[in-house]
Amino acid sequence: MKLDGEETRSIRPSEDGSAIAVLDQTLLPWRTVWITIDSAAAAAHAIRTMQVRGAPLIGGVGAYGLALALRADPSDGGLEAAYAMLAATRPTAVNLRWALDRVRDAVRNRPHDARAAIAWAEAGAICDDDVATNAAIGRHGLPLLEEIAARKRRGERVNVLTHCNAGWLATVDWGTATAPIYAAHDAGLPVHVWVDETRPRNQGAALTAFELGNHGVPHTIIADNAGGHLMQRGQVDIVIVGTDRVTRTGDVANKIGTYLKALAARDNGVPFWVALPHSTIDWRVRDGLAGIPIEERGAEEVTEITGLGPDGTVTRVRVANPGSTAGNPAFDVTPARLVTGLITERGRCAASEVGLLGLYPERA
Ligand code: MRU
Repeated sequence: MKLDGEETRSIRPSEDGSAIAVLDQTLLPWRTVWITIDSAAAAAHAIRTMQVRGAPLIGGVGAYGLALALRADPSDGGLEAAYAMLAATRPTAVNLRWALDRVRDAVRNRPHDARAAIAWAEAGAICDDDVATNAAIGRHGLPLLEEIAARKRRGERVNVLTHCNAGWLATVDWGTATAPIYAAHDAGLPVHVWVDETRPRNQGAALTAFELGNHGVPHTIIADNAGGHLMQRGQVDIVIVGTDRVTRTGDVANKIGTYLKALAARDNGVPFWVALPHSTIDWRVRDGLAGIPIEERGAEEVTEITGLGPDGTVTRVRVANPGSTAGNPAFDVTPARLVTGLITERGRCAASEVGLLGLYPERA
C-alpha cells in the first residue's frame, strides 16, 4: 500500500540480514516512525508492547525475530530459547506459532552456519506469501460488495462495517478485512466504511481510519456501541472483520467486541463475513470457546487512553475513576453459527468444517 506516496510494506528487511524496520503502531497516526529490530528480544518487545500488532504481522515479525536469534546463536539451544521467548509474547493469534514452526522446521537438521540465512529466507517467504494471500482474499471478497452494489441505485454507496484493524498495518500488505474494500475502491465501486473505534486501544479510530484515509476510502469513525443502532436503521450492508484464530469448525477469535457485532448483525439480517489467511486456521482446535486462549492485557489500557495533547505531544490521559481497576480481555470468540462465511485466499466458504475442508482438502 502507499504511505506518503511511496509503495511500502509493513516490514522492511535490511539487505544484509541484520535487522528489519517496522512502523511503531503505538505512535500512529500521530507519528510515522520506523523502528529497527535487530534481535529476537527486540522482536519480542515490539510484539508484547504492540508496537507491531495484528495476527499476520505478529507472525512475520516473529519469523524474522527467530532468524535474528540464529544469527547470534545458531545452536539448537539458541533456537529453542528464542522460539519459546517469541511464542510467549501473545497467546491468541495463532499466526505467531504457525510462523515460528515454519522457520524452525526450515532450519532443523541444517548445518548451524547455514541456519541464519535459511531462516531469513523463510521469513521473507512467509511475508511474500502473506502479500499474495491477502491480494487473493481481496479478489474473493470483492464479488460480495459487487453483489450488494448491484442491488442498489447506481452510484449508491455500499456500507461496510469493520472492527479493529485488519488492514495492511496488521499484515505485510493489503490487509485481510480491508483487502476486498481496497479492491472495490480501486475498481471504482462506491464503498464507505463504518470504522469501530475499537476500545480500549482504538485500533479502528487510529489505524484503520489512518489507512483508509491514506488510500482515499470514504469512512466514518463510530463508537463501538453504535454499530447495532446503524444496523437497525439499514445503514450497514455487510460486516467484514479479520481474525486471530479460526477453528477447524469455523469458530472465530478476534478483537474484543467482535462477538457483539455478530449478534447485532444476526438480529438485523446483516451478512457477517470473516476474512482470513490459511495461517490463521488452527486445525488442532474444534471448540473455539474451550480451545482458544484469550489474552488478558493490563488494566491501564482501559483506564487510560493515548492521544495527541494540545501541545502536539503523543500523551496518555486517565479516563477512569481514580483508584478503580479494570478488566481487559483482548479478544472474544464468535461461534460459527453467527458467521455468514469465511473469505480466504482459496475462495469463500461456510464457517464450518465441511466449508473449510472444501477449500483445504489436504487437511481432512
Ligand atoms: O490486539 P491486536 O491489535 O493485535 O488485534 C488485532 C485483531 O484482532 C485483528 O482483527 C486480527 O489480528 C486480524 S489482522 C489481519
